[in-house]
Amino acid sequence: MAPQKIIIDTDPGQDDAVAILLALASPEEIELLGITTVAGNVPLELTTKNARIVCELAGRRDIAIYSGCDRPLKRPLQTAEHVHGKSGLDGAELPDPTMPLQDTHAVDYIIHTLRREPPGTVTLCPLGPLTNIATALTRAPDIAGRIARIVLMGGAYFEVGNRTPTAEFNILTDPDAAKIVFGAAIDLTVMPLDVTHKALTSPERNAAFAAIGTPVGNAVAGWTGFFERYDITKYGSPGAPLHDPCVIAYLIRPELFSGRKVNVEIETESELCLGMTVADWWGVTDRTPNALFIGEVDAQGYFDLLTERLARL
Ligand code: RIB
Ligand code: CA
Repeated sequence: MAPQKIIIDTDPGQDDAVAILLALASPEEIELLGITTVAGNVPLELTTKNARIVCELAGRRDIAIYSGCDRPLKRPLQTAEHVHGKSGLDGAELPDPTMPLQDTHAVDYIIHTLRREPPGTVTLCPLGPLTNIATALTRAPDIAGRIARIVLMGGAYFEVGNRTPTAEFNILTDPDAAKIVFGAAIDLTVMPLDVTHKALTSPERNAAFAAIGTPVGNAVAGWTGFFERYDITKYGSPGAPLHDPCVIAYLIRPELFSGRKVNVEIETESELCLGMTVADWWGVTDRTPNALFIGEVDAQGYFDLLTERLARL
């Protein structure tokens, strides 16, 4: 099977960084057309700088990176330095990037790429707030029918929220954008906290990253060792969920994951439940199923894939 053409839309963040590295380490399955950055974990200037840092770490100064929206569609940006650190990539000391940033805006790049590539050949992989994707769909409605599928990290149902009792960070940061994306009738696969909270780091798994013995392995071990401090304290779990690489791992080895096609709607009105992904898991409404909502993962298989692939870089 030919490699899948993808665009990664991202707000690095340590887990975004690992997802980008996994994609770069998997050319048999993935052709990374470009990276688009969005404000989320940290402001846009930093998410864009961090995407460049990660590509340089992987020795891929050739990757085209496009900076995108610096705030949600309608609401103020609320970042997550308390989780990811001030830089967004705390936990590993890496040099400032020197690779170029593309002049084209991320939204224009997404539109142009989808219009250029044959219909149904490009997969979008959002790993942060959906502002860029929603803006592209609004500005160019014709691209919706040209997107092969969207595989995103976001939302929560049985696992409930991580930013509020009812909402996950990516969706809550821009719920209006999420409503547009989930309502666009595009083939949609969702990696919610329901599954990412089953993909937990551990001292053994972090040690396997460090044992790779390369700058990439050392950086990944440092990042996971840093951002897990927050989740371990919060959840009392043995490790932190490695959220975003689940999206890329799904493209490479979908059999590691399982879920159910259900209707998922986004709450954009209630202040109490703003950003909730309301998943009709038991089919109690007549709302049309619009997303494959993933709930299970072979966690060891996932970490084995990560360690094996990251060792290639
Ligand atoms: O809630 C987890 C998500 O929020 C991940 O994508 C993480 O990088 C942050 O963006
Ligand atoms: Ca992210």
